[in-house]
Amino acid sequence: MLETRNLNKSFGAVPVTRDVSLTLERGERRVILGPNGAGKTTLFNLLVGELRPCGGSVHLAGEDVTTLPVARRARRGLSRSYQKNTLFDGLTVEENLGLAAAVATGHASRLGGDSLARPEVREIVAEVADQVNLTAHLHARVNEVSYGIRRQLEVGVALATRPLVLLMDEPTSGIGPEMSKGFHDMLKDLPRDLTLLIIEHDMDIAFDVADTITVLNYGEVVFDGLPEAARGSKLLKDIYLGAWEDA
Ligand SMILES: Nc1ncnc2c1ncn2[C@@H]1O[C@H](COP(=O)(O)OP(=O)(O)OP(=O)(O)O)[C@@H](O)[C@H]1O
Ligand SMILES: [Mg+2]
Repeated sequence: MLETRNLNKSFGAVPVTRDVSLTLERGERRVILGPNGAGKTTLFNLLVGELRPCGGSVHLAGEDVTTLPVARRARRGLSRSYQKNTLFDGLTVEENLGLAAAVATGHASRLGGDSLARPEVREIVAEVADQVNLTAHLHARVNEVSYGIRRQLEVGVALATRPLVLLMDEPTSGIGPEMSKGFHDMLKDLPRDLTLLIIEHDMDIAFDVADTITVLNYGEVVFDGLPEAARGSKLLKDIYLGAWEDA
């Protein structure tokens, strides 16, 4: 569903992504681990098209999208929930989901109450609100809800575009441990055919959600495989887990 071949990116003389080749099958849930500065966010930027690689290619659903801009990759089903805030603060949860759904269904040309009233938009809003556990909060204004709910809504907004692949960069950063657990239960309940690529710092959660794990170190893939194998690997322990346990 999503593939990179020998992806390379340097900033000036500094290589930040080194020969990264990844293959995600449809419905696979992959967690990317790696120390600070390992190049995780840079890899996401290359995948969604915010950065152009110096070499290598990106393929989405079998098509080479390496030179496509962000919006065209998004229309082909690659969606990202951002760490920075991309919500409309003065609008309700429902309106935020509705706008994303309206854009995705091509009804956003006349933004206003009536695009949100369209049955196909309403249907997506109801479905996504249920998926991200926000049905009870639909009428709350975004600037009145908790930080954890905003993070859930960010995922909802990405889902409302009906993606094939959803990329999340540290979706639970800044959320307390209790909400974080609920957040990951929510991720685990997402449709099994949605392909997920998640950058996550919390090991327990990573091992809980992931079908497969990729570890980056200095821009390079140093581990790619099953969570159980990652947990026991000495290489991993040395470069990553060790540093963590010591922290
Ligand atoms: N636009 C840029 N220009 C120059 N250097 C950059 C740029 N973006 C990232 N870098 C550098 O590339 C390296 C990898 O950064 P990146 O943000 O991808 O790491 P990360 O794995 O996401 O780290 P973190 O866990 O802290 O989020 C860092 O050394 C960073 O300083
Ligand atoms: Mg990062």
